Amino acid sequence: MTNDYTTGVNQHYGRSGLLGRIDAALRAAGKDPAHLSQADLGPVDQFHGGGLPATRSLARLAGLQPGTAVLDVGGGFGGPARTLATEFGCRVTVVDLTEEYCRVGEELTARLGLGDSVSFHHGNALELTFPDASFDVVWTQNSTMNIQDRASLYQGFRRVLKPGGVYAVQEVMAGLVQPAHYPVPWAQEAALSFLYPPERVRAWLEGAGFRAEAWADETHNTRPAGPPPAAPAPGALPAAVDLVHGADTAKMQRCNLANQNENRVVVVQALLRRG
Ligand SMILES: C[S@@+](CC[C@H](N)C(=O)[O-])C[C@H]1O[C@@H](n2cnc3c(N)ncnc32)[C@H](O)[C@@H]1O
Repeated sequence: MTNDYTTGVNQHYGRSGLLGRIDAALRAAGKDPAHLSQADLGPVDQFHGGGLPATRSLARLAGLQPGTAVLDVGGGFGGPARTLATEFGCRVTVVDLTEEYCRVGEELTARLGLGDSVSFHHGNALELTFPDASFDVVWTQNSTMNIQDRASLYQGFRRVLKPGGVYAVQEVMAGLVQPAHYPVPWAQEAALSFLYPPERVRAWLEGAGFRAEAWADETHNTRPAGPPPAAPAPGALPAAVDLVHGADTAKMQRCNLANQNENRVVVVQALLRRG
């Protein structure tokens, strides 16, 4: 991976000032940013289609238990990780290429007093530095669509998983009709977007030594939301995508919805066991 790639991902996702926008949104909703629970954050830090219900659904599919060691690859600013810690008792390590997200994630995690169960590592999913067999679960939610070299990615996931561990997946993949419309929340243009057909992704995973135990089209449960109302209801919080992309979100979500409606993208939820 070149530095151009790292810069491209950081420029797309990290627009600076994210923590300030989160705090302003919390205050506008009547919450005190210094005294929060994970539930107070609502949709603010779940940066994927389907929001919090999709995170809980994938956690149940993965059979997460108290003490399960999870590696959340492309974990953003940590909403899913903190949910797995607070609701399922997991110990979660987040790795993310966007430096600002790691800093914002650390700050929110510290405010919630979750520093013992959730940690952040700034780095590339293709260059995992963790020892072999160090996690029970590798987890990705809407983060691999920026990653071209899937064969290497999945070999890395297998390496860091314990024997019998699982890879829990919620990912955007290519539909039958191509190409996709842009911009979308994960890329302004096709150059940063690597969407592959589900059967190709599955073949790469099986080639890396995984066996699918569940594989389902969940597109219908991850429909992009419309633009936020001009005057939000009292206590309502914006979604992560609105806080990240601001005024660009409406166009991105229009393209995203058209992609789903026209079968240009699909969303797959899956569970794969390491052989
Ligand atoms: C749409 S966000 C999803 C964040 C998080 N999974 C969630 O659901 O809240 C995609 C994330 O993938 C990260 N990402 C993209 N390419 C990456 C790479 N090569 N290595 C690590 N993280 C990456 C981005 O920085 C971004 O935080």
